[in-house]
Amino acid sequence: AQERALDRDCTTLSRHVLQQLQSFSADAQDLSALMNRIALAGKLIARHMSRAGLMENVLGFTGDVNVQGESVKKMDIYANDVFISVFKQSGLVCRLASEEMEKPYYIPENCPIGRYTLLYDPIDGSSNIDININVGSIFSIRQQEGNDEDGSALDLLQNGHKQIAAGYILYGPSTMLVYSIGRGVHSFTLDPSLGEFILSNENIQIPQHGPIYSVNEGNFWQWEESIRNYIRYVHRHEGYTARYGGALVGDFHRILFQGGVFLYPGTQKKPDGKLRLLYEAAPLAYLAQQAGGRASTGMQEIMDVIPKKLHERVPLIIGSKEDVALVESFITEGV
Ligand code: AHG
Ligand code: MN
Ligand code: MN
Ligand code: MN
Repeated sequence: AQERALDRDCTTLSRHVLQQLQSFSADAQDLSALMNRIALAGKLIARHMSRAGLMENVLGFTGDVNVQGESVKKMDIYANDVFISVFKQSGLVCRLASEEMEKPYYIPENCPIGRYTLLYDPIDGSSNIDININVGSIFSIRQQEGNDEDGSALDLLQNGHKQIAAGYILYGPSTMLVYSIGRGVHSFTLDPSLGEFILSNENIQIPQHGPIYSVNEGNFWQWEESIRNYIRYVHRHEGYTARYGGALVGDFHRILFQGGVFLYPGTQKKPDGKLRLLYEAAPLAYLAQQAGGRASTGMQEIMDVIPKKLHERVPLIIGSKEDVALVESFITEGV
């Protein structure tokens, strides 16, 4: 038993990637090293956040507005820069596209075509930062296609099946990293005494149905009638419970383990909703699919959506297969 305990403590993220790929090829080593850098970013952000209340210049707004039209938090920028820093001189990632940057950031030195692109939401749930409620970071890895000389990153405007890996870091009571490289969904818990993410759950499967529905009911009167009818249904029927944390990562993580559905529908004013496809909906859709769940816009699989622009938004319905299908049945019935 002791050997097993020791073995488990040595199942770090980088080793797990190699186990997953059952290979020690250069590509496998690259992906393992890349995931290790993501883990380093998570540790740096978790450390910064854990001391936020004790240091100047960590919390609060920068005073700027980002490409999304959102007021930027200092932590958004800190986390954005952490991901850039951990991939400099890595030779692994040549381009980073983030919610906080209008255009991608290029790391030119020795980056041949075909190297990885990191798409990320550095801090998801920014509204929770200053009140010490859980937030996350979301990441998605794609391969650069073509040389993207004009910096337009048009090769990123492809559907979610182009993702090589995806996952998130959840900064909660413990810091957890959840990822998939297409061979199931696995979670790691940061052991601060080791400074390592240690494997905590393998092959996580979303229950086919769950009791949770997660939605901001404050938008009730802005939705389509079909969504209002779905909400009326769950209000009337036993067995449903509402949980909404204001951070997609936390709300999704709950559903990944307990089942149910998260939805951020479009409204009359914003028919595409609020969430961004390339670094919020698509990476989580990739995980949902790998965990036996689903993610839909209501009319189309999230994984099939081809964005027209980098910061494209989509309506998101994600979680247990049966619960996503139930929401869709109200939408198609309403059509
Ligand atoms: P971000 O902080 O990266 O901009 O994302 C916030 C998103 C998502 O995390 C969350 O589910 C949603 O915004 C909450 O939006 P509302 O406050 O409109 O419910
Ligand atoms: Mn934001
Ligand atoms: Mn977000
Ligand atoms: Mn964000």
